[in-house]
Amino acid sequence: MEVKVITGDITQQRVDAIVVNLFEGVKSPGGAAGAVDRALDGAITKLIEEGEIKGKRGELTLIHTLDKMTPSRVLVAGLGKDSDFDLDAVRAVAAESCRRLRRAGVASVATIAHGVGAGGLDAAASGQAIAEGALLGVYRFDKYKSDNGDGQSIAELSVVEADAANAEALKTGVSRGTIIAEAVNLCRDMANEPANYMTPTRMSEYALEVARESGLDLEVLDRPQMAELGMGALLGVAQGSEEPPKLIILRYRGDPTNDANSLGILGKGITFDSGGLDIKNAAGMSTMKGDMAGGASVIGAMKAIGHLKPRINVTAIVPATENMPGGRAQRPGDVVTAMNGKTIEIDNTDAEGRLVLADAVAYARSLGLTRLVDVATLTGAVVVALGNQCTGAFGNDQSLIDRVVAAGAASGERIWQLPTYDEYKDQYKSDVADIKNTGGRGAGSITGAQIIGEFTDGASWVHLDIAGTSRSDKAKRWDPKGATGVPVRTLVRLVTDLAND
Ligand code: BES
Ligand code: ZN
Ligand code: MN
Repeated sequence: MEVKVITGDITQQRVDAIVVNLFEGVKSPGGAAGAVDRALDGAITKLIEEGEIKGKRGELTLIHTLDKMTPSRVLVAGLGKDSDFDLDAVRAVAAESCRRLRRAGVASVATIAHGVGAGGLDAAASGQAIAEGALLGVYRFDKYKSDNGDGQSIAELSVVEADAANAEALKTGVSRGTIIAEAVNLCRDMANEPANYMTPTRMSEYALEVARESGLDLEVLDRPQMAELGMGALLGVAQGSEEPPKLIILRYRGDPTNDANSLGILGKGITFDSGGLDIKNAAGMSTMKGDMAGGASVIGAMKAIGHLKPRINVTAIVPATENMPGGRAQRPGDVVTAMNGKTIEIDNTDAEGRLVLADAVAYARSLGLTRLVDVATLTGAVVVALGNQCTGAFGNDQSLIDRVVAAGAASGERIWQLPTYDEYKDQYKSDVADIKNTGGRGAGSITGAQIIGEFTDGASWVHLDIAGTSRSDKAKRWDPKGATGVPVRTLVRLVTDLAND
């Protein structure tokens, strides 16, 4: 689907359908909805009077224009209460109306810029939210279906604005939203792929494609190179698998003369988590092809960053491997040594994310990075704590945590901070090594985070646990069923915010 901006009268567009909107409780529509109402001899007013249209959020009413207007269909989208209206409502309305019209077999759509004018939203922000919502909302992962559902797709979405003064800002927003949505959809594609396709090697090939297309540098370390660097924690996890592990490093240099202006983004890349010898049960293993969603999110974010070109240096690091129970698999009780020399007792082979991230963090520090954000489907415990509604945040630098949480709020991805009191650290003391890789039942997502934090060596660091938010059991708002692409939009927003410091 291509999204573009047009200045003009929405009722005159040569498209299959147009989208207009209405706040809850409005009795006589104004703006574009008013123009449509007049062209249709008061049809919308009548539907409001009859109680068919209320303007509630999520309400979509399809009206056939029966030759009274150029477009043959009008979709009236409810915006909800004026007082609750925000950019998330714009994203949701754009997503839901495109999905609705696609089901109706519509190929070309014109929409008004929701919230610009009466809604009081900035035109660029609205344009971005419409492009994001529409492109995220129509996403499907159907490459393995011989008959891909209804087969329909919308080829073109035009954002039509009557006031020419808003056109430039709308265009800027739409182009930004398109770049970001395509990055989120890349992350979704990677995380939706089955594990027999999305191996560590394939992940590195996707990173290569991003590097080529967005103009970034790529480096991929293989097993011997990681052994040379002493990455015993990562290699211990990889030991049980026939699939060769990869350490993927993507670099964007937007401020080449200022190394202090840098951020490292790290993502867990477990392409399948069987649990290892501490094997998961069937229910626990069923979604574990998605255990590389953190890695996919940083690769996706780099794609957008390469196009948006903010003035900051960003290095993405993805430790990619399977966690399998093969004959050479590591055992509970084994002791491994990470790149920084710290020893870790393997208490449970299923706590593998913190092990691969330990070496990724140590590697980031060896590159001189002093500000780090890692993203991981780290713990079932974070799902117990927060469910599927928000990502858990942890860290050692309150101001960086605040920036990450704010970037999430600004992009419509909820993030909630959990504490990291020093007293929790007693839970992962080992009798034989410096630490062990688990912290017991209580506060599992906190001790998981803190074990990663053991390798930060003074760097500012934030950990995002996306175990509850990286996939959705059902389609809602702009999220399809399956991989959500969280937190690509937060990462991109964080990077552009930091670049503007
Ligand atoms: N990948 C899992 C965490 C997970 C669970 C992600 C559910 C998404 C949905 C992780 O590697 C894991 O197995 N964690 C263990 C840690 C435990 C052994 C300390 C867990 O959460 O049970
Ligand atoms: Zn895992
Ligand atoms: Mn695991």
